[in-house]
Amino acid sequence: MMGLKMIGFGGYVPPLKVTNDDFAKIVETDDTWITTRTGIKTRHIANGELTWQMGAKAAKSALEDAGIAPESVDMVIACTVSGDTTTPSLACMVAKEVGIPGGIVFDLNAACAGFVYAVDVVQKYLAMGAVKTAMIVCSETLSRMVDYTDRATCVLFGDGAAAVIFQAQEDKLYASCLKSQPAGAYKIISKLSSTDCPFKTETPDWGDEAVNAAPDGKMQMAGNDVYKFAIAAMPEAVEEAARQAGIATEDLDLIIPHQANIRIVQTAIKRLKLPEDKFYVNIADYGNISSSCIPLALSQLHDQGRLHEGMKLCFVGFGAGLVYAATIVEL
Ligand code: UT7
Repeated sequence: MMGLKMIGFGGYVPPLKVTNDDFAKIVETDDTWITTRTGIKTRHIANGELTWQMGAKAAKSALEDAGIAPESVDMVIACTVSGDTTTPSLACMVAKEVGIPGGIVFDLNAACAGFVYAVDVVQKYLAMGAVKTAMIVCSETLSRMVDYTDRATCVLFGDGAAAVIFQAQEDKLYASCLKSQPAGAYKIISKLSSTDCPFKTETPDWGDEAVNAAPDGKMQMAGNDVYKFAIAAMPEAVEEAARQAGIATEDLDLIIPHQANIRIVQTAIKRLKLPEDKFYVNIADYGNISSSCIPLALSQLHDQGRLHEGMKLCFVGFGAGLVYAATIVEL
């Protein structure tokens, strides 16, 4: 089977750290609630930095790590739900900044499952031989859309970026399971604001009173519904990807889950009946950084020298859409 080789990794988080105690000063919460209900202790917040600037920093590090010139990258997929612009794409702005001259460059929005979805797109292009070297860059400035008066969501999210560079690798295992539940599209929503067009007299009707009432530009989440979805979706995606790969879930060496809530990961561990040390968790330090969670974890694992040839990794994510996905990559 045509598998994937990861040849470069880069991660970037902005320096400003916000603790649970900092949140206790702005909403009715405390460190004990946040720690026990979510596993989060701190998150990093972009203080004036733009999403594309963080993405470009991660992309530059990945290029340096791979030891390749930007010219040799012929595909860039950027993932974000919190970009600086609706147009141009984040991918184009990052490519411009790091000197990638052309090729296939576009954004992919699969929310917190963005990286996992993008890995599958990259694998298809590489396996077809349509591209030789592909970069996935994820960058999120969730602080621009979090409602800092809503204690149920504001404590969860942080900012950060990460990039991974891929090439094809023959005779390696690869499998994926990409899924969605679009009926839950409004479970997590952040509406764009629009200009005041002088010719419009009607206000839009979303067909949902709660969404109609939601303020533009601020994230609203039915946290409990998403929680219930996630604890079923994560094990289902891992099991289905393993089935596609023709291996047992016990054969996986390392599972890198989306970092939304430590309790979601713990429930997945129980349901999958796998040892806890097979799961990489860094939520305490970063909170939920949407699409950047998994590639940032990968870049940390790489820096720690924990990725070795022959290992079978599983990336599993879920998020707004609702979408969920898992991919299995043999190193
Ligand atoms: O990346 C994908 C997107 N997001 C997620 O995956 C999030 C999934 N959901 C979750 O992680 C959890 O549902 C939350 C962390 C959002 C909430 O945890 P929960 O255990 O589901 O709490 P809850 O919503 O059932 O609320 C329990 C109580 C409520 O108080 P009452 O009504 O019981 O008096 C909330 O108002 O906890 C209260 N609460 C808080 N209390 C202190 C909610 N947020 C806070 C807070 N501090 N920050």
